[in-house]
Amino acid sequence: MNAKHLQTNLSLSADQLAQHGVVYQYITPDPQTYQTSLDHWKQQRNYIAQDQITLTPNTPNLETLLEKFSKEHLHTDDEVRYILSGSGIFDIRSIQDEWIRLTVHAGDFIIVPANMYHRFTLTDEKKIDAIRLFKENPSWVPIYRT
Ligand code: LAC
Ligand code: NI
Repeated sequence: MNAKHLQTNLSLSADQLAQHGVVYQYITPDPQTYQTSLDHWKQQRNYIAQDQITLTPNTPNLETLLEKFSKEHLHTDDEVRYILSGSGIFDIRSIQDEWIRLTVHAGDFIIVPANMYHRFTLTDEKKIDAIRLFKENPSWVPIYRT
């Protein structure tokens, strides 16, 4: 994971991310072991459901999906992602309303807390495989910033 202020290029540590309410943890992407760590997070934060999302250059409507993700929005539930392979870019609005850019790869686990504005896009490889955790009745409707 690489986290930096988009404007200043200054790096942020996981502790600094936590000050903004963003959770980051590295979980070794070993198929034998990562589920135990995810189960721990599920218990701790009442995430019940889990699914997997895969985006590749062959995904139907990839451009339409990315257009949706790349507009600044929030959700009223946490956005929880564990990256299995590929990469992605999450831009998250800091408390000071500045962009924090998180570039994520295999093993990166992040929680963008509910009600925090963010946007997402793929890197040049245009590939990501990620596990999503959510509550039983997740509120996924993106609320776009106006
Ligand atoms: C989402 C991310 C990609 O809303 O922000 O699923
Ligand atoms: Ni989102």
